[in-house]
Amino acid sequence: MSDKKATLKIDGIDEAIELPIHSGTLGPDVVDVGGLTARGMFTYDPGFVSTAACESQITFIDGGKGILLHRGYPIEQLAEESDYLETCYLLLYGELPSREQKEEFVSTVHKHTMVNEQLRTFFNGFRRDAHPMAIMCGVVGALSAFYHDSLEISDEQHRQVAAFRLIAKMPTLAAMSYKYSTGGPFMYPDNSLNYAENFLHMMFGNPCEPSNISPVLAKAMDRVFLLHADHEQNASTSTVRLAGSSGANPFACIAAGIAALWGPSHGGANEAVLEMLEEIGDISHIDSFVARAKDKDDPFRLMGFGHRVYKNFDPRAKVMKQAADEVLAELGIENDPLLDIAKRLEEIALHDDYFIEKKLYPNVDFYSGIILKAIGIPTSMFTVIFAVGRTVGWIAHWNEMISGSYRIGRPRQLYTGYTQRDFVTVDER
Ligand code: ACO
Repeated sequence: MSDKKATLKIDGIDEAIELPIHSGTLGPDVVDVGGLTARGMFTYDPGFVSTAACESQITFIDGGKGILLHRGYPIEQLAEESDYLETCYLLLYGELPSREQKEEFVSTVHKHTMVNEQLRTFFNGFRRDAHPMAIMCGVVGALSAFYHDSLEISDEQHRQVAAFRLIAKMPTLAAMSYKYSTGGPFMYPDNSLNYAENFLHMMFGNPCEPSNISPVLAKAMDRVFLLHADHEQNASTSTVRLAGSSGANPFACIAAGIAALWGPSHGGANEAVLEMLEEIGDISHIDSFVARAKDKDDPFRLMGFGHRVYKNFDPRAKVMKQAADEVLAELGIENDPLLDIAKRLEEIALHDDYFIEKKLYPNVDFYSGIILKAIGIPTSMFTVIFAVGRTVGWIAHWNEMISGSYRIGRPRQLYTGYTQRDFVTVDER
């Protein structure tokens, strides 16, 4: 709390309104507009461009400087020195674990990787060609029908167990949603493998042979999960908070987050990037697509470019680009036509005036799509993988909200519809 105040002068009202200003540990001050309601007035901020909807201690972003901190630690350091599950611990509990705490955390996650056998039959209700994100919206929400002993949100122990279950079961469900589309057998998790290895084992393994997982690809996969772990109050996290503010159970809230993530402006962008590269098809077509992206009358956008918050560079994209280079070198992929198109697009975006002026840089999804393609993950699974990584962020924010004081989220509106009018019977219309 600071002593600073904002003074608001409104036409037609003599007395100025004083609004408190709150300061965080980092980032801009926020004006507390709560007092405006008493004056019969709301604020108007479509897209929440300048509205802080909550107080949080989990993640900080400075979009101008390209800074992303989880519990104070820079994402670059976590990507270099840590791993996904350790970062999960950090996000959930606020501190890095000791060696013993880490071992216990990892072991607990491993103990929750299987899903209820009955859930396996749930998959049969889907068409074989269902999009895996459609399946994930359904099956993650359905977890609340299976795990009744972790639904009491006011009980910290229940919230903990729900967190473990979600982090542990998301890769299992994700791999099942892929296997279902191929007609291949569902793979049970192998808890002797680490988180990323286990995911690759369930995605690409089969029960007749031992899995042979490349450590380089597993490391890249772990980094993809880590770099997606949290991103403060983005659309899907805000959706989870909003759903959670009504008291909904954690599995239902995470299903809501998955739905919000699916859109191409958010998590769906990594899939959209690859589809766009395929649509461009050849380097010689790039200029016409770039021209379309610049044309105000054409809704086409270059997928994987631009970000609501990062206006200089996306720090995750830097690490992801490095990981992409490593994976491609390791796999000896040098001449991939889609990759050539991606590289050329990147070059254009970094040098073209339109992209420079509008501060449109390649975002994390631009490079994650390239890595996932190289690992052999089908395009339709890209957003599912984002959801697996982001699950911990959603839970951390949900838990932060539920364990503090909160009210049901209820935005207001600027109504521009009809004023009151009398009903007209069907014969008189
Ligand atoms: N290609 C071409 N032009 C673009 C692009 C793009 N990818 N992104 C933004 N612009 C232009 C807009 O047309 C607009 O131009 P104008 O000022 O002349 O009207 C200007 O840049 C600002 O765009 P907004 O839509 O107002 O920016 P906003 O902050 O609302 O949107 C968003 C950010 C949604 C990410 C946008 O840049 C976009 O659609 N990018 C492509 C999709 C994408 O990659 N999403 C992934 C985001 S990262 C993530 O979720 C992990």
